[in-house]
Amino acid sequence: MTKTEPVVNNENRGRMTKDGIRIYEASDFAGMHVAGALAARILDDIAAHVFVGQSTEEIDRIITNMVEAAGAKSATIGYKGYKHASCISVNHVVCHGIPGPKTLKDGDILNIDVTVIVDGWFGDTSRMYVAGKLPRKAERLIQVTHDSLMKGIEAVRPGKTFGDIGHAIQAYVEAHRMSVVRDFCGHGLGRVFHAPPNVLHYGRPGTGAMLEEGMFFTIEPMVNLGRPETKTLADDWTAVTRDKSLSAQFEHSVGVTADGCEIFTLSPAGRFHPTYD
Ligand code: MF3
Ligand code: CO
Ligand code: CO
Repeated sequence: MTKTEPVVNNENRGRMTKDGIRIYEASDFAGMHVAGALAARILDDIAAHVFVGQSTEEIDRIITNMVEAAGAKSATIGYKGYKHASCISVNHVVCHGIPGPKTLKDGDILNIDVTVIVDGWFGDTSRMYVAGKLPRKAERLIQVTHDSLMKGIEAVRPGKTFGDIGHAIQAYVEAHRMSVVRDFCGHGLGRVFHAPPNVLHYGRPGTGAMLEEGMFFTIEPMVNLGRPETKTLADDWTAVTRDKSLSAQFEHSVGVTADGCEIFTLSPAGRFHPTYD
């Protein structure tokens, strides 16, 4: 996810809307599908390596090897100085957790976020995992976060707006007395990692840019059990909840079709959720 601030797209392909959002060609969906499927398969396969006593840097090392074995490239290694193939965000870490030597404890929940580049196309997805036994309140948080992403995706079709997506997510989360993070958002992607628009996970129906067939973007709500505010640690990456409450996130990359959308990052094994089986 990107910081909620303006981004530019220098790429030169398809056409651009007045809001600066690229419209890709029908033939471009195939490349996104391949990249998205690889990122999703890596998230399927990493589940076996998440357990009590495992370090997040070991998980990242395995992901690095998986990306390489597939003949793909990591989009995050070297991105704005980031050095890892994944972000691993444990418990109250909202996003951009840096893999490190700390080991997972029983009941820890974690988001693993992977972005790969295949033939120049970006596939960006994340989902939740648990080490050991899943605590009850974490289970609720994970379920609501997952379902809020799916509510957002259901709102994707030509003629709807980005505000409709944000509203669907926010309404669902707040009905469950949880909060949506405002400081980070989803993003356009395609031949680039982060492009317009900022895909907010809150908003009002009918506001924002209109969705058009051929737009590619991520939806990646971060949901907190407590308040929505975040702060970034001294490492300049790790974002945590200010009130130390638990946070969860799920992310898909999607492309707008004539009557809805294609989810590029569907799990080949049907394991996007739950991952704690
Ligand atoms: N994959 C993240 C996203 O969803 C971005 C991570 S950038 C990194 O947009 F540098 F922190 F890896
Ligand atoms: Co993203
Ligand atoms: Co991501």
